[in-house]
Amino acid sequence: MDAPLIKTPLPGPKAKAIIERDAKVVSTSYTRGYPFVMARGTGAVVEDVDGNLFLDCAAGIAVNSTGHSHPLVVAAIVEQAQKFLHMSGTDFYYEPQVALGEAFNEIAPFSGQKRSFFSNSGTEAIEAAIKLARYSTKRYGMIAFLGSFHGRTLGSLALTSSKAIQRKGFGPMQAGTFHTPYATCYRCPVGLKPETCHAECLDFLEQQVLVHLISPDEVAGVVVESIQGEGGYVVPAPQFHERLRALTKKHGILLIADEVQSGMGRTGKMFGIQHFGVEPDMVAVAKGVASGLPLGVTTARAEVMDWPPGSHASTFGGNPVSCAAAMATIGLLKESLVKNAADVGAFMMDRLKEVQQKHAIVGDVRGRGLMIGIELVKDRVTKERATAERDKVVEACFARGLLVLGAGKNAIRLSPPLVLTKAQATTAVDIIDQALGTL
Ligand SMILES: Cc1ncc(COP(=O)(O)O)c(C=O)c1O
Repeated sequence: MDAPLIKTPLPGPKAKAIIERDAKVVSTSYTRGYPFVMARGTGAVVEDVDGNLFLDCAAGIAVNSTGHSHPLVVAAIVEQAQKFLHMSGTDFYYEPQVALGEAFNEIAPFSGQKRSFFSNSGTEAIEAAIKLARYSTKRYGMIAFLGSFHGRTLGSLALTSSKAIQRKGFGPMQAGTFHTPYATCYRCPVGLKPETCHAECLDFLEQQVLVHLISPDEVAGVVVESIQGEGGYVVPAPQFHERLRALTKKHGILLIADEVQSGMGRTGKMFGIQHFGVEPDMVAVAKGVASGLPLGVTTARAEVMDWPPGSHASTFGGNPVSCAAAMATIGLLKESLVKNAADVGAFMMDRLKEVQQKHAIVGDVRGRGLMIGIELVKDRVTKERATAERDKVVEACFARGLLVLGAGKNAIRLSPPLVLTKAQATTAVDIIDQALGTL
């Protein structure tokens, strides 16, 4: 399918009818930016219910890593579904879950023997990480970063600090959770320049949080996104992760990499943290791991994941069909898609930097692989956030047949399927260029 191809006004009549039904019965908490109603998809192209074709640079929030309905993933799902759909890996054994544990033992971004806990989503992968960190260290404290997103169940929500609306009305949050500035280098929280950065943003953690709020020997874990996702696709200075690793090691605090959005090849390496040359103690994965089937994975050093039977489990977690989809996904990532994300991502980034030259509103273009953020500002000097303009650009992209999402207050995120071709990347960038031109 060649995209984009827009044949009807948007939304078309069939889409409109579905949206009207949705408005009556579906939770009002969802955040729909524009009226796309999916009918089918293949690769990086999706078709809506009115037959309009869109180029997909959203991938269901960075999920469809191998593209929509990759034939090998679908075949693996069908094969497993014909054998059995569920047997609960909590109480029984089945080979697909063991195979996936072995795969993570091989690919997880730290050395040594590992074990994996399986759940159904990113938030559950983080809940497992929080519980395991507490259990393993016999400490209660958790540290997270401002602007981060780790999920919406009550444990992970206490870590999440992306937007106040995500927390508003749900407090009080889990006690013992503390936040500290992230290395948001475009808006350095301590007003310094990248050229001379020693990750001074971590001074706040080391000299304030761990001095005035909680003793380091009561902190179980630090949860960090290697590249911040919902917060705006923010790439930290490399020193940030290095210094954080040294600090956590010094105090016996577990370093937990939340790779839910940045993992599974998206950044051009299997895990985002691998760009920074540090090894965490634990990694949490979901989204792209099973190409769209629900699965969360929490992988830790074997000596850390040593909790007794009954201490943590999930009826559906590690569902055999999801495990089969994940095995096929990992195979495709290793075979070519991690590399494609690196190559096409670098190509797209170069093209976007050219677009940046043309539009003063583009303050920053950043990312790794096919995890790319475009931050819009009203003024490049004051960096005043262009939030309404960002929303308009996202809508203008949609009108032209390109699906993108916002991230943070004023960034556009590009998180396409990792099968994106250079030709498709060029089309996407041209549409973004045109959409910026409408402002
Ligand atoms: C970094 C990160 N962690 C955790 C989550 C939560 O994942 P889920 O929505 O599957 O619960 C998300 C979701 O966007 C995420 O981006």
